[in-house]
Amino acid sequence: MAGRKLIVVFGATALSGRSRGAQGGSVARALLGDGAFRVRAVTRSPRKKPAEELRRRGAEVVKADQDDEASLERALAGAYGAFVVTNFWEHCSKEKEIEQGQRLADVSKRQGLRHVVFSGLENVHQLTGGRLEVLHFDGKGVVEEYFQKIGVPTTIIRLPFYFENFLTIFKPQKAPQGDTFVLDPRAALDTPRAFGMVEVVGLQTSHSAALVSRSLSSPLLSCLAMLMSALIPPSPRVQRQLKTPLYLLRAGLHFSWDQSLHTELPMGDTPMDGMAVEDLGPVVLGLLKSPGEYIGQVIGLSTGKLTEAEYAAILSQQTGRTVRASKISPEEYEKQDFPGAKETAAMFRFYALKPDRSVALTMKLNPQARTFHQWVGDNKNAF
Ligand SMILES: NC(=O)c1ccc[n+]([C@@H]2O[C@H](COP(=O)([O-])OP(=O)(O)OC[C@H]3O[C@@H](n4cnc5c(N)ncnc54)[C@H](OP(=O)(O)O)[C@@H]3O)[C@@H](O)[C@H]2O)c1
Repeated sequence: MAGRKLIVVFGATALSGRSRGAQGGSVARALLGDGAFRVRAVTRSPRKKPAEELRRRGAEVVKADQDDEASLERALAGAYGAFVVTNFWEHCSKEKEIEQGQRLADVSKRQGLRHVVFSGLENVHQLTGGRLEVLHFDGKGVVEEYFQKIGVPTTIIRLPFYFENFLTIFKPQKAPQGDTFVLDPRAALDTPRAFGMVEVVGLQTSHSAALVSRSLSSPLLSCLAMLMSALIPPSPRVQRQLKTPLYLLRAGLHFSWDQSLHTELPMGDTPMDGMAVEDLGPVVLGLLKSPGEYIGQVIGLSTGKLTEAEYAAILSQQTGRTVRASKISPEEYEKQDFPGAKETAAMFRFYALKPDRSVALTMKLNPQARTFHQWVGDNKNAF
């Protein structure tokens, strides 16, 4: 046991592997489960729950900060290798991510590490001659180059869009009120919700768009809601969507407001790579076990390339809810009012250039890595 090589794992302590990424968490779990290496997990807060959990599983947990060089020296001392990930989203600064990454490279070099797996991404700004700038990619690209330049034995991995993003910031949303407002009597007939529980998303009158947003669980209230909905004349906009008043009459019998969800990936019809970040661990374990084969390599990861419509279709099929592709353009996407909208739109523009991600190599390194279909199947209750 004492002779096992020590791997230092960064980023293993996110609060939950499901709701957040946690590349390092997946790596630490795979290494601990396999047993070939000893694991030292690095965190700024060794008392937090995920740190305790890692300790219970057999990891050494140490306190260090990527902004504090002396703490990194201590964390990497005596290690054979490391898994390194920096978290752009914590500060949203390309410069800071470069500083952290270069500091980690310098310390790895000084400590004589024999194999570092660095989670990088392309320097999009450089690759596109300045046409595109994706700050959370560009900084990692600079760091990739630095690890190689100063001669740290490194394998670079580039993750694709995490499937887990569909449970967090890319969780399929209800169509905005009034926008894809569809009355579908067939859907009403198909779904037991029609009489058991009707969720009234919006009641639009011809004069105003009064919003009633609540779930009605009693059949009586549901019937009342249906009756009210049928009596209130819809706005001209909704009427246009209904196409024919006859349709409304028929719909009045089995009336349901559209419960469909939509994805929001501004990719048009271009396929986008993805994988479950939970499946990363065995990939990194495989790399660390074959240094001769993988040191010096840059490996783009993916378990499949799907269009937005294909992602939506699989979500529909597996969850039983109607999920539609929004077909939003990057231009519309970046106008949205949330922090990071522009940055994320730029990332999708880069994804549309189809960066190199290898499904075959990913599956070779982790034959159990799941396709989107399998992953949604495992997580359908979370949608
Ligand atoms: N979401 C995607 O689809 C995707 C795809 C490819 C790449 N990425 C990249 O993945 C990175 C984030 O990785 P993740 O998803 O695994 O993150 P995460 O689950 O949010 O976890 C962040 C981890 O980083 C650690 N950390 C942050 N700042 C630190 C510091 N100064 N010193 C030491 N540890 C620090 C945290 O440890 P403590 O808080 O315990 O100290 C935590 O364990 C981002 O840079 C992002 O660009 C994301």
